[in-house]
Amino acid sequence: MTTSRITGEPVLKWDDGFFCRDLPSKPQTGIGKVLVTGATGYVGGRLVPELLARGYHVRVMVRAASPEYKERWADAEIVVADALRPEELATALDGVHTAYYLIHSLLLGQKIFESTDFCAAANFRRAAEEGDVKRIIYLGALGDVQAVLSPHLRSRKKVARELSRGSVPTTILRAAIIIGSGSASYEIVEHLVKNILVFPTPRWAQTRCQPIGIRDVVKYLVGALEEPATSGRSFDIGGADVLTYEEILRVFTDVLGLKRLFVRSPISNVRFLAYLASLITPVPAPVTLSLFEGRADEVICLDNEIRRILPFKPLTYREAVVRAVAREREDRVHTRWSDSYPPAHELDLRLADLPKLPRYRSSHSLLTEKSAASLFRSLCSIGGKEGWFQSNWMWRVRGAFDRVFFGVGTSRGRRSLSELRVGDVIDFWRVEARARDRRLLLRAEMKMPGAAWLQFSIRPEEGVNRLSVEAFYEPRGVFGHAYWYAFLPFHHFIFRDLIEQIARRS
Ligand SMILES: NC(=O)c1ccc[n+]([C@@H]2O[C@H](COP(=O)([O-])OP(=O)(O)OC[C@H]3O[C@@H](n4cnc5c(N)ncnc54)[C@H](OP(=O)(O)O)[C@@H]3O)[C@@H](O)[C@H]2O)c1
Repeated sequence: MTTSRITGEPVLKWDDGFFCRDLPSKPQTGIGKVLVTGATGYVGGRLVPELLARGYHVRVMVRAASPEYKERWADAEIVVADALRPEELATALDGVHTAYYLIHSLLLGQKIFESTDFCAAANFRRAAEEGDVKRIIYLGALGDVQAVLSPHLRSRKKVARELSRGSVPTTILRAAIIIGSGSASYEIVEHLVKNILVFPTPRWAQTRCQPIGIRDVVKYLVGALEEPATSGRSFDIGGADVLTYEEILRVFTDVLGLKRLFVRSPISNVRFLAYLASLITPVPAPVTLSLFEGRADEVICLDNEIRRILPFKPLTYREAVVRAVAREREDRVHTRWSDSYPPAHELDLRLADLPKLPRYRSSHSLLTEKSAASLFRSLCSIGGKEGWFQSNWMWRVRGAFDRVFFGVGTSRGRRSLSELRVGDVIDFWRVEARARDRRLLLRAEMKMPGAAWLQFSIRPEEGVNRLSVEAFYEPRGVFGHAYWYAFLPFHHFIFRDLIEQIARRS
């Protein structure tokens, strides 16, 4: 068996690498249906396979249907519902025993995320009461309940209060930052320590925090379901260490074997530093800002009651980082913060569902003797660390503009170097459809006056294969039309190069 170069542990395939193996509680599969909301998100995406592996009847709630979900959660029931639409929640909660509430709208940005989160929680509480749900389990955030908190922590607290105000017994698990491959906090720290040689540390870098590994979060979530003693109560969950934010950076630096200098910084403007962090890391500004705003709030466990009910040894911060780095290097990142949709995304706007094809289209193709399988493999590796081949700089310039104007930019990268599933992000695109060895359809999520898609297709033609790329664009307003014509001259170089490189590298 292969062993990890980093942890020295056997490399397990995702299917056999479950987190809950040493959980002291026993599966309660007789309880009936368990609903997981936020299943497309970072935490929910890790929870679903664990519940399925323990034999639960899982219903997964998503906001947009996709054929790929049936493949991803073959043993689960899938229901489409938006927490902001109460009538859809009634169907989602029908016949459910326990519902996990893992919804949040941080990506919507400062102005509306708090009210949106509250509205979603209020709808959910009402629907759970009407649907006779027996339990709700919510993962919220740590933070002194008496203190004046940052908008993010305050919003999590309001959601907790709203959910537990109803008649359905609600378990609240409160966590600080979650460390695991693909988590936003992990990627922020990782990119900061990799890209900054001298760290200006403001005074708030001395605030204490108790990070927790994603595997321990999932264990507590599953354990809360299996231990009735957790019903209707609130628990603080944390990893084995309490560290300052500076120590969090230092330990990470040490794990990566890097040398970095830490110097006291007179600049402590949170908005400015969060914006800088969003430019350096793949994580967009609304998320970095929300996390940085909590800088002054100590987020440490005030009691360890949960450890008595679910006794297992949580990971230290260093162990969590080592595991996350290992998973990333082994290309085994199962879910990522970018899996949930950005604000401008119109969930229902799919190329296949449009009444007619978008107004503008430009296409390029070539004939190649390469097999369809190798062409598809090659095109599935575009973007991220691999880049966009020949015209990389043009994509970067476009991405940099996007980032400066608070868009998603090109630096979001991708979850896995080799694997692509529907919903995955590739820089500023998202996979909308995928047919093995035949087609890959990407939808643009960058800021632009319109909606754009990029479609790659492979078709057999007279004994060889035709590899094509087509750009589709539906303009919005007069700027939309101008935008298309401004970029049209570049299409020829970018797309021609792109398919030539895909064919060459396959
Ligand atoms: N990640 C952390 O470091 C961390 C730390 C402490 C606590 N937590 C808590 O853990 C929970 C889950 O966090 P996460 O990091 O997994 O979040 P995430 O990756 O951002 O996912 C959020 C999920 O919420 C869904 N969602 C958003 N609005 C919705 C709506 N109106 N109706 C239905 N679903 C909606 C999203 O669905 P779409 O895919 O459709 O957008 C997505 O699946 C949150 O309560 C958070 O406060 C997280």
